[in-house]
Amino acid sequence: MKKIIIFLVFLAVIALPNVSNARTQEKKPVDKCLSCHTDIGSDEAASYMSDVHFKAGVTCAGCHGGNASVEDQDAAMNPKKGYIGVPKPSAIPQMCGKCHGLARTTFRNEYHLDDVVDQFMSSVHGRALNQSSDGPTCISCHGIHNIADVSSVKSPAYPTNVPKTCAKCHSNPDYMKKFNPGLPVDQYEKYLTSVHGERNEAGDPKPATCVSCHSNHLIRPVKDPRSPVYPTNIPETCARCHSNKAYMAEYHIPTDQYENYKQSVHGIALLQNSDLSAPACNSCHGNHGAVPPGVSSVASVCGTCHQANADLFDKSVHRAAFAKAKLPGCVVCHSNHLVKPPFDAMIAFDGGGVCGKCHKNMTSDPAAGAIIAIRWTLDSLTRGRKDAEALLSRAEQLGMDVSDAVYSLKDVNQSLVEARVQVHSFAATSVESAAAPGLKIVAGAQKSALAAVDEYYFRRHGLGVATLIITLLAVLLFLKIRQIERRNKG
Ligand code: HEC
Ligand code: HEC
Ligand code: HEC
Ligand code: HEC
Ligand code: HEC
Ligand code: HEC
Ligand code: HEC
Ligand code: HEC
Ligand code: HEC
Ligand code: HEC
Ligand code: HEC
Repeated sequence: MKKIIIFLVFLAVIALPNVSNARTQEKKPVDKCLSCHTDIGSDEAASYMSDVHFKAGVTCAGCHGGNASVEDQDAAMNPKKGYIGVPKPSAIPQMCGKCHGLARTTFRNEYHLDDVVDQFMSSVHGRALNQSSDGPTCISCHGIHNIADVSSVKSPAYPTNVPKTCAKCHSNPDYMKKFNPGLPVDQYEKYLTSVHGERNEAGDPKPATCVSCHSNHLIRPVKDPRSPVYPTNIPETCARCHSNKAYMAEYHIPTDQYENYKQSVHGIALLQNSDLSAPACNSCHGNHGAVPPGVSSVASVCGTCHQANADLFDKSVHRAAFAKAKLPGCVVCHSNHLVKPPFDAMIAFDGGGVCGKCHKNMTSDPAAGAIIAIRWTLDSLTRGRKDAEALLSRAEQLGMDVSDAVYSLKDVNQSLVEARVQVHSFAATSVESAAAPGLKIVAGAQKSALAAVDEYYFRRHGLGVATLIITLLAVLLFLKIRQIERRNKG
């Protein structure tokens, strides 16, 4: 038994190399183009020996056309046999498209090649190529005569090489100017400052490269709503990696950003209501750089849109206190990804209260007075308005005209909005000043409502007395008439 096993292992060992030899030979057809070009010492032939196409059995004629099985130069490089020579740039996609296009060729079937030419031709790059022979073609990103499998680190399309491949053109202002003078040329430079770029430079292929966000063949202008970097598509583009627990596991960072963002005021505004003024992931994290321009850290980004809040916060006691404790500003109270609609009850020590996270002692904390006063002011405004509304509606039911007072209440909202912004001064007096006009209107409206109700009752009493008097007068008059009649009869 043992002997049989040893024999079988022996057989397997000698048979294996033969099997693989047979396979490579099978894929290497006679390529007289290659032999002659090797003889004449052409660089193309030398580098082609390591090309993925060479390994797959594609001859020089596979791309250039002609007859690869004859030794004579003229017979081989014969236009009648389809020889096309050196293709013009605009003809390269079609050249590659013989096998990577729509047509179902043997190579395509055998290797299950995708159609990428159609995508390329519809892309912004395909359009640039139509416009000028300087435009990008397949070989701008894959090289030529030494094309490597894209999963090989030798390929210019391999993740850690992609940024440089794109930068060849996109960091070249003279080149880009010819196509689109308005297009920035700083993407690569900025990319290197991002966590993605730093890790990529260090040789990690997993963080986002240019093609993770822009796609590879079907790159569209960024303002095209179908682009993966169009605001409404960005969250999903980032989520492909950042919500993929297995993919992100080795980095030990949370993978809940997209889930949380979707439920936030920002996510709802952008994804459900198509409000393009609401931030997508890149509004806060930057497109290419570590953070957007003009923002020194992600935590300060909120101020680019919520300037009033940020100005107040910057002047408040919390700025220095938070900086000292290394707390990230707005995010402490509002969160970064799960920003929810704020409400007055956040200003409290207890349960839903956000101040209570740090100011715990209602009696001894120096902030206690302010917290209570701010909340009281806001409550006075909201409750006061509600009371005024109830009173006014009662007056209306009684048929009194209180439309002026009802109308005046509309301006309370403005005060309320301003007072809620002023919360970010964390000073009771500022909130009170902002609330003052509203409180005055509320008081006025309440007064008008009460006056109207009073008047109603006053009028009702008045009417009663008048009716009584009139009735009395009528009775007296009647009696008088009867008296006169009786007198006349008598
Ligand atoms: C017997 C040798 C020989 C054979 C076989 C041969 N070539 Fe060439 N080829 C040459 C020489 C020499 C040149 C450069 C001189 C010239 O342009 O005529 C050349 C030039 C070329 C060029 C560049 C043409 C240009 O306009 O710059 C291409 C492309 C080419 N060969 C492709 C092929 C292909 C494809 C085949 C096979 C179908 C092939 N060759 C077979 C010898 C050969
Ligand atoms: C996968 C397709 C492909 C294969 C296979 C291929 N070529 Fe090319 N070759 C091209 C393209 C595309 C160009 C044009 C490059 C450019 O515009 O710079 C080219 C250009 C050339 C040129 C002109 C170079 C120059 O600088 O003007 C020569 C010569 C050439 N090829 C020879 C060969 C030979 C010999 C083989 C086989 C050993 C071969 N090619 C295999 C695609 C191919
Ligand atoms: C702007 C750069 C760029 C251009 C232009 C480009 N590619 Fe690619 N291509 C890539 C990248 C990057 C990948 C690797 C896939 C990835 O990581 O998304 C790739 C992958 C591929 C693959 C292997 C995967 C697949 O999708 O089948 C083939 C084949 C390919 N490209 C052929 C072409 C052909 C043919 C053209 C011209 C019609 C072309 N490429 C134009 C960047 C480019
Ligand atoms: C005659 C058919 C043919 C032509 C023409 C052709 N290819 Fe290919 N290509 C192949 C085959 C076959 C493979 C091998 C696929 C494999 O090994 O899985 C391949 C592989 C590739 C790969 C690697 C794919 C991967 O999965 O990593 C790239 C990139 C590529 N080709 C680009 C090009 C470009 C660019 C051109 C035009 C300059 C071109 N090809 C022209 C047949 C062709
Ligand atoms: C993490 C995703 C991401 C990566 C990685 C990325 N981009 Fe971008 N790119 C974007 C976003 C988002 C925009 C802006 C969209 C907008 O303005 O609405 C953009 C815009 C662009 C633009 C249009 C001009 C501009 O700067 O606004 C170009 C060109 C561009 N990127 C090229 C690149 C290149 C080259 C790389 C690699 C060095 C790259 N991008 C890496 C997401 C990315
Ligand atoms: C051979 C040069 C070249 C290479 C390489 C190249 N590009 Fe481009 N790219 C261009 C040109 C030219 C345009 C068209 C500019 C225009 O007309 O608006 C363009 C446009 C773009 C745009 C659209 C910008 C906009 O919104 O108008 C994006 C995004 C882009 N390229 C990304 C990439 C990425 C990602 C890579 C690498 C995978 C890459 N490019 C490689 C030349 C190149
Ligand atoms: C191809 C996958 C991929 C895509 C797509 C991607 N990322 Fe990343 N991202 C990563 C990886 C991997 C890291 C590295 C994590 C680390 O080292 O902490 C990373 C890191 C980050 C970091 C830094 C995290 C930290 O460590 O503090 C931020 C912020 C980030 N990405 C935001 C984005 C945004 C925003 C987008 C979309 C515009 C995006 N990413 C798209 C894979 C991706
Ligand atoms: C309103 C601004 C904002 C938006 C929108 C936003 N982020 Fe963030 N993000 C932040 C802030 C602030 C941090 C914390 C940064 C710090 O601590 O330095 C952060 C942290 C991160 C981190 C680091 C890991 C973590 O969770 O702490 C990643 C990754 C990340 N965000 C990805 C995303 C993705 C993906 C999206 C879109 C789905 C997104 N962010 C949307 C502001 C935002
Ligand atoms: C790109 C601009 C932009 C950025 C950056 C931004 N926001 Fe917003 N934010 C908005 C818009 C627009 C809305 C209104 C959404 C809606 O319609 O409800 C909003 C709503 C809010 C609301 C709810 C307001 C309300 O009255 O319901 C809060 C709280 C908020 N953002 C906090 C933040 C915080 C905290 C940050 C930073 C981590 C931030 N925002 C970053 C644009 C932005
Ligand atoms: C110490 C906690 C705290 C910090 C820090 C904080 N907020 Fe607020 N924020 C609140 C509270 C409490 C409310 C609710 C006010 C209300 O509804 O009564 C609020 C309400 C808001 C609102 C809705 C009301 C309005 O102003 O339209 C926005 C927007 C907002 N904050 C943005 C920010 C931004 C931006 C920052 C950073 C510059 C920030 N907040 C910092 C506690 C905080
Ligand atoms: C993340 C912790 C934190 C949160 C949440 C917080 N504070 Fe503070 N607050 C501080 C710190 C720290 C100080 C500085 C204390 C000191 O200097 O003695 C401070 C100081 C203050 C002061 C000044 C007190 C004095 O010394 O006169 C006021 C007023 C104040 N906070 C109000 C609020 C209000 C209102 C809220 C809720 C909307 C709030 N704080 C939420 C940490 C916080």
